[in-house]
Amino acid sequence: MCGIIGCVNDEAVAPILLRGLKRVEYRGYDSAGVATVSESVIRVTKAAGRIDDIERKYGLSTLTGTTGIAHTRWATHGGVTDRNAHPHTSCRERVAIVHNGIIENYLELKKQLRAKGHIFKSETDSEVIAHLIEAEYHQVKDPVKATILAAKKLKGQYAFAALFQDAPELITGARKDAPLLIGVGDTKNFIASDVLAFIEYTDRTIFLDNQEVVKVTNRSVEIFDMNGRSVKRKPTQVAWELADLSKMDYAHYTLKEIHEQPKTVVSAMMQNEEKLAEFVEKIRGARSVFVTAAGTSYHAGLLLKYRLERDAAIRCEVTLAGEFREHSEFVDGGSVVIALSQSGETADLLEAIREAKKKGAKVLSLVNAAGSTLARESDLTLLLNCGPEVGVAATKSFTAQVVVANLIVDNLVGSRNGRGEEVARMVEEALSSEPTVKEIARMYRERSDFYFIGRGYHYPMALEGALKMKELSYIHAEGMAASELKHGTLALIEDGTPVVVINPRGETHADTLSNAEELKARGARVIGISDEPSEVYTHFIKIPRAKESLTPVLEAIPLQLMAYWTAVEKRNDPDYPRNLAKSVTVK
Ligand code: M6R
Repeated sequence: MCGIIGCVNDEAVAPILLRGLKRVEYRGYDSAGVATVSESVIRVTKAAGRIDDIERKYGLSTLTGTTGIAHTRWATHGGVTDRNAHPHTSCRERVAIVHNGIIENYLELKKQLRAKGHIFKSETDSEVIAHLIEAEYHQVKDPVKATILAAKKLKGQYAFAALFQDAPELITGARKDAPLLIGVGDTKNFIASDVLAFIEYTDRTIFLDNQEVVKVTNRSVEIFDMNGRSVKRKPTQVAWELADLSKMDYAHYTLKEIHEQPKTVVSAMMQNEEKLAEFVEKIRGARSVFVTAAGTSYHAGLLLKYRLERDAAIRCEVTLAGEFREHSEFVDGGSVVIALSQSGETADLLEAIREAKKKGAKVLSLVNAAGSTLARESDLTLLLNCGPEVGVAATKSFTAQVVVANLIVDNLVGSRNGRGEEVARMVEEALSSEPTVKEIARMYRERSDFYFIGRGYHYPMALEGALKMKELSYIHAEGMAASELKHGTLALIEDGTPVVVINPRGETHADTLSNAEELKARGARVIGISDEPSEVYTHFIKIPRAKESLTPVLEAIPLQLMAYWTAVEKRNDPDYPRNLAKSVTVK
């Protein structure tokens, strides 16, 4: 979480930093700030709040200087206040830093620094980095050496960039277990946590490895290991289409991304045949198969498990990424671990796959962000090809994961994959439920609780519907197996409680319909999502008839729209829900 960007330019840098910041705002958005250096002074403007508001009030883009760093925060240590916003400066304002990650030993370092007379201005863990670098720089008078010496004292995760009062021609950066990339331009170079921060200016990117340090000027990039030895690495070219990040005519990215799905499911289906075959062979040859992911990606993982077991007769364990280590007893050299992720930067997931690798397992991944840490650390990756997802809620990346998972299983069992145009047409048809869903959102926006139920292959969709509703509308929502209702939760159903019943035709249809009846008998308003109407439904949301493997994709559309429109009805910002961030890069 937190987005960082630094740039050394040959003209004013602040407007470039501001544009970059807005592109990484999805990483955290409770406060933001910029620091530049000019005429031997480091100038900092920062505040709590959203970037646009801070710019309007204080003019982040008006800072002078050609070298600068900037940050958009998702608070971990220290409340959401102006003082805790980054950049942080050292006592003598000789160094400024921006940081993404968690410094685990910050209290110990703070104590040591305080004993030496350092005065701290914030409650953050990050501020120690500025003080440490200043202290080292005072001794060694070399920005790179000072950065290395400071980085060596840090425990935890970090990606940071530092600015020096008396070296205005450069910035340094370092990373450990948090992403840091270099953008190589002709007259300007960048340090950033995401390629989106600089893609407008250059597509040439260097991915820093763990425990590397970089020095960037406007004409040069030098990388070092923690012993100060030079590391040679050539830039790779990333796709330019990432630059297209406009909302077009949509009010929010989330709505745009929901509506992109007829296209993105098709692009997700376009996998390189050889790679797909290799992926499938690795699963076939494994002694045991594990799936791991977090949040919405975990729900896609549950669907993959269902299909692997039911259709390919391959036993599979699915574990939340954050729980993986504690449940990895049986992971070994004969295992394949399949990791699913939009960002490829989720800290829990990276920890899980590193644990798996340590035990000798092969890591296969389904990931959207091509140059992400997950993609680089996996033995084999299938990309989701759905383009950048800006809205914090995972929408098109989820449906892309489902169709890629389907490709894998269909290939394993040698069955024919669905045709792209047919799938796109059905997703389009599911989107036509929007007016009905909008009306439902208007009717139930004031409710304090929502329930979502489904059975078998539709159970993960109940979890997914509830997660979307919680994160966008802030309404308490619970997703559960339809069979579980009568084991306790039914006690919470009262007159008017909305319950979304995900129930297309198929082997679980009749049983789920009985559960809907039980709910209705207790006063629930039953919102049915199905290809088959029923009198039991108070509201009916029609999705097209499809073969079972595709139903989660079609169910996802009204579930996403329901959460989105409820958020809009409640005047929440669906793109930037409170307390959250798109990439969860801390444990
Ligand atoms: O980037 P990832 O897919 O690894 O992210 C995992 C979760 O953080 C993510 O799916 C989160 O749950 C979404 N905000 C849900 O909409």
